[in-house]
Amino acid sequence: MLILGIDTSCDDTAAAIVEDGRKIISNVVSSQDDIHKKYGGIVPELASRRHIELIWPVVTESMKRANISFNDITAIAVTNGPGLIGSLLIGVCFGKSLSFVNKITLVAVNHLEGHIHAIFLEASPDFPFIALVVSGGHTSIYRVDDFGVYKEIGRTRDDAAGEAYDKVAKLLGFGYPGGPIIDTISLKGDPQAITFPRANLAGSCDFSFSGLKTSVMNYVKKHPESRKEDISASFQSAIIEVLIDRISDAVKVEDVKRVVLSGGVSANRTLRERMNHRAAIDGFELFLPSMHLCTDNAAMIAAAGYHHFIKGNLAKYDLNPKAYLPLVSAAG
Ligand code: KG4
Ligand code: ZN
Repeated sequence: MLILGIDTSCDDTAAAIVEDGRKIISNVVSSQDDIHKKYGGIVPELASRRHIELIWPVVTESMKRANISFNDITAIAVTNGPGLIGSLLIGVCFGKSLSFVNKITLVAVNHLEGHIHAIFLEASPDFPFIALVVSGGHTSIYRVDDFGVYKEIGRTRDDAAGEAYDKVAKLLGFGYPGGPIIDTISLKGDPQAITFPRANLAGSCDFSFSGLKTSVMNYVKKHPESRKEDISASFQSAIIEVLIDRISDAVKVEDVKRVVLSGGVSANRTLRERMNHRAAIDGFELFLPSMHLCTDNAAMIAAAGYHHFIKGNLAKYDLNPKAYLPLVSAAG
């Protein structure tokens, strides 16, 4: 069964063909980094305009690479939230139109659920597992008991981890997106050079990164001569330590033996290495998607959409995008 996945939740236009929720047949992602780079962050209006231009070529390319026609597609899975409303709107309208014109079933997928499903394109973790979704817009921990069964057990109370990466990178003059740049520059710095604050919110698996961001900002103002490599490595160390500690807490509280990472920040090399190390110490099994499946893509949306389809959880033509869309267990 072939599912066409479409994601336009943020600044990447993505389409993919996935077989039976597990096998990638094609996966096309068109990044808009060149457009947003000069502003040091995403400009929502520019993102939605670019999605309009790219959506048709990207979907066509995904079908061409898979060597299929619309007759071969069983369902279209489209991200309807959370994300930038103008960006989501393009994917949702396009998905609905394709579905209507070609008489193909439509399913709606929560972007966060998509991130969690990226791992099923490469591995088969048993349930239950703890999932960390750590991206530019979200930092949440879920307990996942089955396909479509989620319980949020921790979330950021302010900034997302990726957002903190992007803001600190902008402050240091590195450009956008900041995560991959800080990832590389940190390898040349001393992670213990500066002790930035780690927010430990007692008795919860929640996060807070805004104090860390402010602390980096104040430090840079006071110490303009400080090496950017050391600031980056010390900032990154604070973020990663908190992410790993909260996951470690969640594993113990929920008494679960498997952890799945997902979202753009989980492409970070130091996080992956240190998380592997903690998994060995704590004795849990760690599942890391390949780097290109950590960041936004539509294969993960098709993978999640497959499970909605087989449960009969279909979308109607009154489907609307939602900027705010918490991940809750699916009906059916
Ligand atoms: O999942 P994603 O592609 O889009 C959202 O759903 O937000 O995540 C994008 C975020 C950006 O904040 C980007 O800076 C961050 O992920 N990111 C990274 C790395 N690659 C992307 N952060 C740290 N290290 C990386 N290697
Ligand atoms: Zn994402």
